[in-house]
Amino acid sequence: MTEISVFVASRGGNTQKVADAIAEELGVMVGDIGGLLPDDSKIIFLGSGVYGGKPGSAMTEFIGRGDFTGRKVALFATSGAAEGAKNMISMVADAVKERGGTVIGDYHCRGKFLLTNRGHPNEEDLQKAKTFARGMLERS
Ligand SMILES: Cc1cc2nc3c(=O)[nH]c(=O)nc-3n(C[C@H](O)[C@H](O)[C@H](O)COP(=O)(O)O)c2cc1C
Repeated sequence: MTEISVFVASRGGNTQKVADAIAEELGVMVGDIGGLLPDDSKIIFLGSGVYGGKPGSAMTEFIGRGDFTGRKVALFATSGAAEGAKNMISMVADAVKERGGTVIGDYHCRGKFLLTNRGHPNEEDLQKAKTFARGMLERS
């Protein structure tokens, strides 16, 4: 059976909600971003909020500790700006590729930030995340 894992760097809880929705859809637990990538993970979902255009340092460090050779990686993010995650996703994708992984897709939605995006990620955002997660498995 293909082992699936989900890891998230979330300071404020927005991206955590997306991670929880993906994990629920796939019937797995969200892993500890402070730990190591499990040896048996073949498909890995990695998510982060966007902070000053970058991923959370916990995510950068997690990727740096891992050997992603032969593994497929699906990325997800939440951001304050509608397109705010694009650069960050490509930074994370580059880091994963440097560690030997193959990025198979990505998903992002808005996350509440100060007075903007109130209620996001909302139910629709989370449903889309679940559909994304299913799609990633079908692609693998
Ligand atoms: C310190 C900080 C810096 C941020 N920088 C950006 C940014 O550069 N671009 C953006 O689109 N959103 C930015 N945001 C908004 C967050 O990406 C957004 O609120 C996201 O949903 C946070 O995810 P989290 O709740 O999982 O931590 C920033 C938020 C914080 C707290």
